[in-house]
Amino acid sequence: MAETLLEVKDLKVQFDTPDGVVKAVDGVSFTVERGQTLGVVGESGSGKSVTFMTVMGLIAGNARISGEIIFEGRDLLKLPPAEVRAIRGDGMGMVFQDPMTSLHPMYRVGDQIVEAIRAHRDIDRKEAWDMAVEMLRKVGLPRPEERAKDYPHEYSGGMRQRAMIAMAMVLNPDLLIADEPTTALDVTVQAQILELMEQLKSEYNCGVVLITHDLGVVADVSQKVMVMYAGRAAEYGTRDQVFNTPLHPYTWGLLESIPTVERRVERLVPIEGTPPSLINPPRGCAFHPRCPHRFEPCDGERPELEMRGGDHPDACYLAIEDKRRLWAEREQRRQKEPA
Ligand SMILES: Nc1ncnc2c1ncn2[C@@H]1O[C@H](COP(=O)(O)OP(=O)(O)OP(=O)(O)O)[C@@H](O)[C@H]1O
Ligand SMILES: [Mg+2]
Repeated sequence: MAETLLEVKDLKVQFDTPDGVVKAVDGVSFTVERGQTLGVVGESGSGKSVTFMTVMGLIAGNARISGEIIFEGRDLLKLPPAEVRAIRGDGMGMVFQDPMTSLHPMYRVGDQIVEAIRAHRDIDRKEAWDMAVEMLRKVGLPRPEERAKDYPHEYSGGMRQRAMIAMAMVLNPDLLIADEPTTALDVTVQAQILELMEQLKSEYNCGVVLITHDLGVVADVSQKVMVMYAGRAAEYGTRDQVFNTPLHPYTWGLLESIPTVERRVERLVPIEGTPPSLINPPRGCAFHPRCPHRFEPCDGERPELEMRGGDHPDACYLAIEDKRRLWAEREQRRQKEPA
């Protein structure tokens, strides 16, 4: 049995704004196991970052948060703030999507990692510096003793990403959360960063959350996948379940927009339409206005994420036979496409 590190139950995060209440995360539940990767996928604005910034305790003051965030057996939403800070500082590391929140342009990379260490460990600068250099070596930075003295702009994109991973991992956390860690990188460097994360995962035996808008990125490295749409999970299963027997039309759309050797980029079919408002989401299934398979119940009661006859939970009202048939037809059509 895998050891569960993080269990999130019915998490909701709402922001009060002048235009109304933004339901950024509207009831998501999932677990992260030690030594495994959870891939979290969805279009822009689906609530991926807010979900995990909330787990990290980094959400701004205008937010209302409910549900449970159980990390190593304790509900972080119920403990006193000082205790939670200590648990998070030691137990979780995050690689942030926004470079502005991670590496400061005015400070040397090594000094920034030293600060990150000394915020949570009572050790002197020299010792922390040595730890920083050692970690930079582990993430594959050449000549780390010298490169630690550089400023972030002196690094390539891939090196900066390695430095951010070093900063997130230097205190040996049990959970590494990486928010779009490869999005700004070219394909080769992307593969190297994913490989590095795999290597760290097995060396440290930590749990990993990999957030991305690209289902292709999680294909090779995730044990489980959660597909998010409009602040909720559309589908949640093992990697094989989600890739081989996807149940939700939104996932089908995402799968069809993955570039492969056979389907070159020009042939990609993006999902039509745009993500919904999170202040006034559509009635029923939030995806129904964009869904080619919508039928009568879809704009009525909201479908919950649950077992619906498939081998993993999903939130779509189509009958299981129809899901199987429609996905098989889409697959056939895809294979007939000329390369
Ligand atoms: N502080 C805030 N106040 C109000 N709304 C917010 C705040 N932070 C995030 N949101 C909104 O919450 C929703 C979810 O945002 P989030 O950043 O989680 O999306 P995402 O899935 O990470 O998207 P992306 O792929 O673009 O990173 C968005 O509509 C966003 O505008
Ligand atoms: Mg994001």
